[in-house]
Amino acid sequence: MYRTHNCGELNSAHIGKTVTLSGWVQKNRDKGSVIWIDLRDRYGITQLIFDEARTSETLMALAKTFGREFVIQATGKVIERSSKNPYLSTGDIELLVTDMRCLNSSKTPPFTIEDETDGGDTLRMQYRYLDIRRNPIKSNLIFRHRIAQLVRNYLSEQNFIEVETPVLIKSTPEGARDFVVPSRMNPGQFYALPQSPQTFKQLLMVGGMDRYFQIVKCFRDEDLRADRQPEFTQIDCEMAFVEQDDILETFEGLTRHLIASVTGNQLGAFPRMTYHEAMRRFGNDKPDIRFGMEFGELNEVSKHKDFQVFNSSELVIGIAVPKANDLTRKDLDQLTDWVKRPQIGASGLVYVRCLEGGSFKSSVDKFFDQEDLKNWAKITGASEGDIIFVLSGNTDKVRTQMSALRMEMAERLGLRDPKVFAPLWVIDFPLLEWDEESNRYHAMHHPFTAPKPEQMNLLQSNPSEVNANAYDLVLNGNEIGGGSIRIHDKATQSQMFDLLGFTPEEAKSQFGFLMNAFEFGAPPHGGIAFGLDRLVAILGGQETIREFIAFPKNNTGRDIMIDAPSVIHKAQLDELYLDLQPLE
Ligand code: AMO
Repeated sequence: MYRTHNCGELNSAHIGKTVTLSGWVQKNRDKGSVIWIDLRDRYGITQLIFDEARTSETLMALAKTFGREFVIQATGKVIERSSKNPYLSTGDIELLVTDMRCLNSSKTPPFTIEDETDGGDTLRMQYRYLDIRRNPIKSNLIFRHRIAQLVRNYLSEQNFIEVETPVLIKSTPEGARDFVVPSRMNPGQFYALPQSPQTFKQLLMVGGMDRYFQIVKCFRDEDLRADRQPEFTQIDCEMAFVEQDDILETFEGLTRHLIASVTGNQLGAFPRMTYHEAMRRFGNDKPDIRFGMEFGELNEVSKHKDFQVFNSSELVIGIAVPKANDLTRKDLDQLTDWVKRPQIGASGLVYVRCLEGGSFKSSVDKFFDQEDLKNWAKITGASEGDIIFVLSGNTDKVRTQMSALRMEMAERLGLRDPKVFAPLWVIDFPLLEWDEESNRYHAMHHPFTAPKPEQMNLLQSNPSEVNANAYDLVLNGNEIGGGSIRIHDKATQSQMFDLLGFTPEEAKSQFGFLMNAFEFGAPPHGGIAFGLDRLVAILGGQETIREFIAFPKNNTGRDIMIDAPSVIHKAQLDELYLDLQPLE
């Protein structure tokens, strides 16, 4: 038997017992006549002690040979520690070793296996299996498991059934590029990896499954960011005979249950905001509502003077940054440079200091008097001690720029508290968005999303005005889920494909299977998918999903541990009928 106990469970109740532990050497402190080894496994650390008075010479000599990360097995007696460690669950005891063996040696690890490591990102990813031995990553993976279990139990209790859908499929448009897989048995043809199981879950509804969920890998060939991986996991869900409210209530229930289980916080009903309102108030379709700094629209009170920058702008907006008046001139110059960076693209930054006593000092004092600035303060909700930042320009652009500035200020002022959870439903998204590049409409969510029934008559005459029965769940400024009520009749689905620029033949060849299914009694249905990686990261108080994925890809989509993707040999290419430059 390798072990009778684990390294995290022994305490003073075990004193006097003989036990066997197995684990990794965290630390070997050799003081000559006494040696302490910290033995670590998934559950914790137990201190082993060897001393000249009580330990055989052979064991003392063996103990000296064990370096960091050696795997060892030790048997001994649990004894009381003379100097206790209150920070360790096993800190009251130690193991006086009577027998021991080396199970495997280890090279010196390339970085320290400690909570705070000296290993950079690349090194940690290259030796991810060592990184996983560290508490932060280990506990993130355990946390992820816990969330997945909570989800499975909650949904199963609500009568949802987990069904697996295929991974080798035909392309489903969700807005990103597909990863494709060549088919050896069908020369020249390719499978696509699912960007989501969207069409399959709809077919399960046609199949009468009624309530489906799946914790499922999805694949999207898109540019990567802290909250995006090329393969990621969804909690994918679909329900039949439901309207939007049924879905929002069901999944609000799930989210509330998860937040309560993890933090103990019982949240009330989640606020709901239309897409247009979110854009107007926060310049963002996933606003972080943990803090204020809402946009104040200043057109009426800023375009009546000689300040040409504002007069020639479509929209002038301001935000009141709380208690920011202690920013120095240098800070403000630096912020001005920050908004002028190409990533943000503002042409400049106007600021107004709200001074004690109710007066104002602005960077545009030449053009605006105290009365004007007072109006700005009123509209943005600024109080004494705040600074109002004002940007102007084209409506869409200036909203995006101001949103970035709002988030930056919140970050700098520590207003993005990871322990506060502020969920929000964003609803009534536009059904379509015009794409200048391809000169055609794109589905804002996906092509299977139903228009608002009362706007069906606008679908032909004024498609860009039509809203969708679509919703996103936003948590602390992150989109953690999105879904919609689906089209379930062939005629509307054909009309939708037509609007999106598919010829009837293209629609038939790509989605004939779905439209056929709609002719066999498809029930009204709708659903949602959560991004599990994002959900777990945010519930865990972070926003970088990589830290919650066992073996993530880097920013260029590479797994640097296994070195993938990689070139393949000519024989393999030939077998797949791929006429590429072969590997020599
Ligand atoms: P959507 O495309 O909005 O909807 O995806 C659902 C959720 O998945 C997460 N997500 C990602 N997470 C990590 N890395 C990525 N590259 C990534 N892309 C998306 C987000 C997002 O909210 N089939 C529809 C759902 C439906 O209509 O039911 C879909 O996939 O958290």
